[in-house]
Amino acid sequence: MGVKDTLKVRVKSMSFEAQGINSYELRSETSGDLPAFTAGSHIDLHLANGLIRSYSLVNVQEERNRYVIAVNRDAASRGGSRFLHEVLRVGDTLAISAPRNNFPLAEDAPHSVLIAGGIGITPLWCMIQRLELLGRCWHLYYCTRTRQSAAFLDEMRSLSANIDTRLHVNFDQEPGVTMLDIAGVVAAAGPDSHLYCCGPLSMLDAFERATAARPPHTVHAEYFKAKEAPAAAGGFTVVLAKSGKTLVVPTGRTILDTLLDAGVDAPYSCMEGVCATCETRVLEGIPDHRDLVLSKEERELNNVMMICCSGSKSEKLVLDL
Ligand code: FES
Repeated sequence: MGVKDTLKVRVKSMSFEAQGINSYELRSETSGDLPAFTAGSHIDLHLANGLIRSYSLVNVQEERNRYVIAVNRDAASRGGSRFLHEVLRVGDTLAISAPRNNFPLAEDAPHSVLIAGGIGITPLWCMIQRLELLGRCWHLYYCTRTRQSAAFLDEMRSLSANIDTRLHVNFDQEPGVTMLDIAGVVAAAGPDSHLYCCGPLSMLDAFERATAARPPHTVHAEYFKAKEAPAAAGGFTVVLAKSGKTLVVPTGRTILDTLLDAGVDAPYSCMEGVCATCETRVLEGIPDHRDLVLSKEERELNNVMMICCSGSKSEKLVLDL
């Protein structure tokens, strides 16, 4: 997303949520309503250090006056979470994108099973608040390293009196605790249940294996990081239908790299195929899909692609840019 398409918000407050996790409340500069969102949505933050990072919204979707995000101080931070924890302060302004939802909630599902690992709780906590408001049945399996690193537990426990029958916490590094049996959780879910997972790659891999035989529309996963390297073999041509430009993608560069190198103002955020900011319509040619956003069926249509990570199986791609 180019900066021209962003909204300006101010950091109204910051809160400690758990060890290494702060939340940030963002309000419109004009005090007006912010664009509506649904549970599972994320926004892109355009940080003053030049980075663009995506974070899930954690507040209830009925709130129109604010967005709340929660950010884990990642030890391997490439600058995003470090900037938020160490530099961003109350009163600062930020440019953000409008919310986008690649991880929507099936609100009419009779039962929802949600599996969170660490900071992967953020979209799922938003979903739980929505399910609770709708009076839907849900179970959350929430894994963190320790009790101290679990965010939003107090808020979850205050949702209802019988919460312990629906909230299952797993503090993986506490004595005597074993890792969550994801295959067992999935196997116990009824055929109509919708299953959600957000967490580290190892957890998402286990979830994908466990849910492989279930109807695809009942299985929902959100990735924070790429699973594989971007397509950077190059050697194909990209034609930009709107501007009439033709560019050759060289070896070692992605389509997005090539566009940015040529001064084309293409939208992007994560650059890892997980946020869909760079989603681009394909008018001709066969993409080599590498993203974690499109479903198998969507990939097979070959009418959109994530240009930050996907390449081309054909000699030429014509894009709606
Ligand atoms: S920039 Fe996030 S999917 Fe391409």
